[in-house]
Amino acid sequence: MSLLIKNADIVNADGRFTADILCDGETIARIDRGIAPPPGAEIIDAAGRHVFPGFIDPHTHIYLPFMGTFSKDDHETGTKAALVGGTTTIFEMVCPARSMSAAEGFALWRRQAEGKACCDYTFHMGVTRFDDAAAAELREIVRAGVGSFKVFLAYKGAFGVDDAELWRTLALARDLGVVVTAHCENETLVAELQRQLLAAGRTGPDAHHDSRPPRVEAEGVHHLMTFAELTGARVYVVHLSCREALEAAVAARLRGVDVSVETLIQYLVLDKTWAEKPGFEGAKYVMSPPLRDRANQQVLWDGLASGLVQTVGTDHAPFDFRTQKPMGRDDFTKIPNGIPSIEDRINLLWTHGVKAGRLSPQQFVAVASTNAAKIFDLWPRKGVIQPGADADLVIYDPDYRGTISAKTQTQAVDYNAFEGWAIEGRPAVVTVRGEVAVRDGRFCGTVGRGRFLERRPTCS
Ligand code: URP
Ligand code: ZN
Ligand code: ZN
Repeated sequence: MSLLIKNADIVNADGRFTADILCDGETIARIDRGIAPPPGAEIIDAAGRHVFPGFIDPHTHIYLPFMGTFSKDDHETGTKAALVGGTTTIFEMVCPARSMSAAEGFALWRRQAEGKACCDYTFHMGVTRFDDAAAAELREIVRAGVGSFKVFLAYKGAFGVDDAELWRTLALARDLGVVVTAHCENETLVAELQRQLLAAGRTGPDAHHDSRPPRVEAEGVHHLMTFAELTGARVYVVHLSCREALEAAVAARLRGVDVSVETLIQYLVLDKTWAEKPGFEGAKYVMSPPLRDRANQQVLWDGLASGLVQTVGTDHAPFDFRTQKPMGRDDFTKIPNGIPSIEDRINLLWTHGVKAGRLSPQQFVAVASTNAAKIFDLWPRKGVIQPGADADLVIYDPDYRGTISAKTQTQAVDYNAFEGWAIEGRPAVVTVRGEVAVRDGRFCGTVGRGRFLERRPTCS
């Protein structure tokens, strides 16, 4: 089966030009002007549209047992939503309970995705406990194609590791050449501040921010940077939200630490006033690290434009507003953390980044696709439109005008944090390895066609 995309305004991270794209089976076979259609090829005219490499979300949770409940999407709904929003590859966090072995956790997450995922997927392997047995299993998991780990410096008593475990995880990662992604917040400070706020009667969602102020995150980043500097491991700070944390990462980079930084679409467009909405409405906007003062948004946009911040993810973690967020109605520390956005990341980044003049189209591609592919060893299979790459393409309609709503979304959660927000563009067609998976906002692909992507470290 071949697919010919005519008159494509091809936007890669490193350039932009007009040509036709011929996809043969699962890969891009040729890029040229005036390609004659092979017999039987489907032809799509992309005139007036942009064609981007499939977008990559470097940070999602689809199967997530967390804070006494489970996130709402499964791999079918979550990856359909990703595709409708232009994301053709997801990185999911494997987050085993501390009582579970790494091998059991990896097998469990693989079983969840198998036969259900509609787009390609890969994992960051969560290291929630480290001992000799875990080390041996982690070596096997890396051999099976998972070229990155995830550690939590927060979530005391759940996923969090202690300092000795952190040290040994980083040392193993350095030896194997894999990147360690890390949730950076100082867990002791969080616990103490939570206790203090609850004792003072601050029980509502608005207190969440004050229990995890910027210094708590910056301290977490500084801590990780010290360990990375002394072990020589490559690290990646997930969901960085504020100036103080970015300063800690940049200072480490100046000392020679190999650190990359991810921010999230939520931090770029929402601020902490959303979590201060009256009643319990603010619970929709509780995630960790928390939404910040508005001034941080400019810092993060500047960081993306200047290259200090490499990627924009979602940390998609969907918990229903009606039935799950109320677990913390009388105690904000029990509100399941997360602001779902796997479906809206690209349209929001386009609207508030490119259309608002903050990012060029090429920078948009870099931070939403190419940089993640490079950092996590998927490039040039993913993250670029060139012969030999997987035919994951987003034909983007910049003239589309619409609004975001839970009523029309694909993700399986009962609210949308961006309800009623305008978007100025959306994917018209999305392909997954040569198969059209989305047309005009609707999934039309094959359930279960998503493939587990093996990643081999290239920097060891
Ligand atoms: O609030 C968040 N970020 N929820 C998901 C779990 C995590 O910390 O990544
Ligand atoms: Zn996290
Ligand atoms: Zn996360």
